[in-house]
Amino acid sequence: MKQESPKHTTTDAGIPVASDEHSLTIGPDGPILLQDHYLIEQMANFNREKIPERQPHAKGSGAFGRFEVTHDMSAYTKAAVFQPGTKTDTLIRFSTVAGELGSPDTWRDPRGFALKFYTSEGNYDMVGNNTPVFFLRDPMKFQHFIRSQKRRADSGLRDNDMQWDFWTLSPESAHQVTWLMGDRGIPKNWRHMNGYSSHTYMWVNKKGDRFWVKYHFKTDQGVDFLTQDEADRIAGEDGDYHRRDLFEAIKRGEHPSWTLHMQIMPYEEAKTYRFNPFDLTKVWPHADYPLQEVGKLTLDRNPTDHHTEIEQAAFEPNNLVPGIGASPDKMLLGRLFAYADAHRHRLGVNYKQIPVNRPQCPVHSYSKDGPMRVDNVSDPVYAPNSKGGPQADPERYPESAVWSADGDMVRAAYTLRKDDDDFGQPGTLVREVMDDAARDRLVANVSGHLKGGVSEPVLQRAFEYWRNVDKGIGDRIAKAVSG
Ligand code: HEM
Repeated sequence: MKQESPKHTTTDAGIPVASDEHSLTIGPDGPILLQDHYLIEQMANFNREKIPERQPHAKGSGAFGRFEVTHDMSAYTKAAVFQPGTKTDTLIRFSTVAGELGSPDTWRDPRGFALKFYTSEGNYDMVGNNTPVFFLRDPMKFQHFIRSQKRRADSGLRDNDMQWDFWTLSPESAHQVTWLMGDRGIPKNWRHMNGYSSHTYMWVNKKGDRFWVKYHFKTDQGVDFLTQDEADRIAGEDGDYHRRDLFEAIKRGEHPSWTLHMQIMPYEEAKTYRFNPFDLTKVWPHADYPLQEVGKLTLDRNPTDHHTEIEQAAFEPNNLVPGIGASPDKMLLGRLFAYADAHRHRLGVNYKQIPVNRPQCPVHSYSKDGPMRVDNVSDPVYAPNSKGGPQADPERYPESAVWSADGDMVRAAYTLRKDDDDFGQPGTLVREVMDDAARDRLVANVSGHLKGGVSEPVLQRAFEYWRNVDKGIGDRIAKAVSG
């Protein structure tokens, strides 16, 4: 059979290269010459191969796919992406939160579930996790929280004492910590976990009716987990266990899928609901707001270049399209700033021109110039203008995802409602959702973690924290740690 001859190596300028092995020297034993620009290009580019890793969620991977609407949601949202029968290309990135780029995939941690929909009305990003709640309800505490999960200043080590110190002084964390220390804290792999918006968002229909909504992407593969012992063993054997699983499954033609369901609350009901529906540490009971099926997400294409398609992917919760808006959740409002700022730092101001971040619809913005701008800008470069430049259309695209707010400027916690407390929902999770075996694993996971260097008085506070979640579980944890 005729072998195809390999392509010629060239420099980045496309100039044919004379050797992949030998630098240019004066005689075989002589000094290297400065005019060996190919050698210099190799060394210089190598020194610049790394970009900053994401501050949280550094380790992860992802795939491309599509989202297909199967149920009519037009009564709730006018967003093109959720109209009946619509198919939209998507990118997803899964991740761990606290570990660095090379950290093991099986460390106990929430998992990121970041989705980009390349819709006909611009990119829509749903940047969620595999848990329906979060540790905090005010963005002021997020940076402190992440630092407490990462590394100490002195030893550069992660530190369970630091983690429990923060958590026990932040009782609003109890619900998410209960999820984290339970089976959901180490999914079997990314295919076998759910994804949640966690936050409440707004949907607006064509008539202008508004709804508060939460997204639930339920895995069609079934939820499955690793025990702490399995995860510890795998961390030593294959740090990229989850990344490998996804890539190989898609390569085999096994295309994982998730069914999207929504919880939908009419706008007015939020005012009188028994707890604050915008508090990110709480779920909405399904009995109050049942799941409504929307459509299916399927992943069917691996990246061909992990760096340009996954590492340089930029997700941002502020990418909201007409018919979808934010809510008064303070955490979400904080996030609307944080991500684009992170991308400008990590990827540069023109990061939306990187192919994976480009919308699949025309872009007519007035952004101009800056490092690595590659698209030509055309005149006029300002608005208003009388030269035929793009014009906003408030008739067609009114500011519709809005809500009313009033009050004095304060720094304060949310106003408490009748059922607002930190320990009620985690208590229900332990008593009514977990079975005996899951409760046993919870006790073992927490006590094992607390035995990993947690000092007094943090330890006593941790026992109290768990007794507040559930007296019996707290007592069992205290006994398992103290004997
Ligand atoms: C990543 C900030 C809360 C999910 C990130 C990044 C930042 C950040 C700066 C790195 C972005 C990058 O460099 O590409 C914040 C702040 C939060 C917050 C300030 C709260 C005030 C949350 C919550 C969730 C979440 C509540 C889930 C519901 C994610 C995910 C990623 C991420 C999935 C990884 C995105 C990717 O795969 O590129 N966050 N975050 N974050 N965050 Fe958050």
